[in-house]
Amino acid sequence: MEDRVVTGEETLEDASVELSLRPARLDQYIGQDKVKQNLHIFIQAAKMRNEPLDHVLLYGPPGLGKTTLAAIIANEMGVQFRSTSGPAIERAGDLAAILSSLEPGDILFIDEIHRLPHSVEEVLYPAMEDFFLDIVIGTGPSARSVRIDLPPFTLVGATTRAGLLSAPLRDRFGVLSRLEFYETKDLCAIIERTAEIFDMTITKEAAAEVAGRSRGTPRIANRLFKRIRDISQVRGESEIRLATTELALQMLQVDSAGLDHIDHKLLKGMIEGFKGGPVGLDTISATIGEEPQTIEDVYEPYLLQIGFIQRTPRGRVVTHKAYTHFGMKGYDSE
Ligand SMILES: Nc1ncnc2c1ncn2[C@@H]1O[C@H](COP(=O)(O)OP(=O)(O)O)[C@@H](O)[C@H]1O
Ligand SMILES: [Mg+2]
Repeated sequence: MEDRVVTGEETLEDASVELSLRPARLDQYIGQDKVKQNLHIFIQAAKMRNEPLDHVLLYGPPGLGKTTLAAIIANEMGVQFRSTSGPAIERAGDLAAILSSLEPGDILFIDEIHRLPHSVEEVLYPAMEDFFLDIVIGTGPSARSVRIDLPPFTLVGATTRAGLLSAPLRDRFGVLSRLEFYETKDLCAIIERTAEIFDMTITKEAAAEVAGRSRGTPRIANRLFKRIRDISQVRGESEIRLATTELALQMLQVDSAGLDHIDHKLLKGMIEGFKGGPVGLDTISATIGEEPQTIEDVYEPYLLQIGFIQRTPRGRVVTHKAYTHFGMKGYDSE
């Protein structure tokens, strides 16, 4: 995939700084009020009953704070946080090894849980439901099934789209929380917090400008912040101001709506090649050379959110709002 400053997906560069930027407690986690309120109640109740928390599924586009929230849940419960991912667990035995090493009440975080192999998923069902594993040892006539009891634990799963999960797996989560794109005021608060951690000040106007171009996504806000901070420092400015912010965003080729060259390619491809649609996902994919899955998970959610494209049964359609953004007249406008 092309290098992109406004992708919600995690890059290597993010990983090193994100650790220091991750809020550790629920009350430091900005925004997502509904999700926070629910989790707060469930966590309190579980602690009062001295029981592990129900299994939690966190879903939503990349960069909205799923991994952060999973670690916060462990902190709030006062238990260990064990982290793995769907593609990393190749065999049932890998899962068995992880599960049997847990302490009672621990959180097991499985990122990209929709990518768990099917054979592993089936072993997970009884583990989630009744805390035991049924493992088949050996092959052929000598094969036998062994039951292993597990400590009670909480599975926290994360996925970009809950629709990618099989129904039996989805049904085994007691708490399903959808993370939404952040409001501008919450992104401003996140940017100001990040500035503070980096020992830098940013004016209100500059923070609002970054927030408005961050696609509702904290990871993008933090990434843009870091780039703008670099440019401010090179220019010898002790504070991040609006003028430098605007210049930096222009250099980064992030437009006023937070769109970059790939969004432009996608939208203009649909406008110029297909009169704005409807265009099928596979056709868009072939036109811009990106995987359909990436388009659906990473590029499209924000374009849908801001109403630049719409989904119809016959494919995606570019809206009048997007035409206006490009200073064009829409085909369907007359
Ligand atoms: N609610 C929040 N408040 C403050 N920072 C946040 C919040 N949500 C996410 N972040 C920041 O955004 C970055 C990406 O969050 P992450 O949990 O890795 O997203 P995801 O797992 O959904 O892709 C983290 O570095 C974190 O510091
Ligand atoms: Mg994550």
